[in-house]
Amino acid sequence: MSHFYDLAAHRRSMRRFTAERLTQDEWAALMGTALMSPSSKGTCCWQFVVVEDPELLRQLAQCKEHGSAFVADAPAAVVVLADPSVSDVWVEDASVATTYLLLQAEDCGLGACWVQVRRRETVDGTSAEDVVRRILGIPGHLRVLSLVALGHKAMERKPFQPENLKWDKVHLNVYPTSSPE
Ligand SMILES: Cc1cc2nc3c(=O)[nH]c(=O)nc-3n(C[C@H](O)[C@H](O)[C@H](O)COP(=O)(O)O)c2cc1C
Repeated sequence: MSHFYDLAAHRRSMRRFTAERLTQDEWAALMGTALMSPSSKGTCCWQFVVVEDPELLRQLAQCKEHGSAFVADAPAAVVVLADPSVSDVWVEDASVATTYLLLQAEDCGLGACWVQVRRRETVDGTSAEDVVRRILGIPGHLRVLSLVALGHKAMERKPFQPENLKWDKVHLNVYPTSSPE
């Protein structure tokens, strides 16, 4: 099987990391790949904030009610921003960049996990985007799609197995009609 298929099979969300910091080479690979991600009309509407400051990571971990607490113990995160005035499909562009970061992390032997920020809230109903903007000083015209927690893996996950994939979600030529009663 091709190298990329194996990479995709082994990429699983990692939420526990060692304290080891990422190297310059790892950062160059990660951010270089993010900057090569395709964007609609080539507008490159995204921007990225690399966060390694432990106190900022602790604050980011509290940006929403569920699914972000583990960021407090990650050695790094990349916050994925986009400018909606540059692209009307900024969600797609920023999602592709987020996916590229996840796959590059796996290729570097690192663990990573997408943490959704857009459309998420804190327990008291504050927008997670506003919380992240305030913590990192991000201007109001930029949207915050996600953050990617990154680090050396401190957990094991089984790779996807071809026989367990949801092949029934793949249709040939036309969508199948439901069988007559
Ligand atoms: C759009 C999107 C948002 C996600 N948001 C979160 C999140 O906020 N917190 C989290 O721990 N995982 C999050 N994940 C990771 C998913 O939970 C994970 O990809 C899914 O359970 C499948 O597991 P796998 O990545 O190990 O294959 C998100 C994934 C995607 C694609």
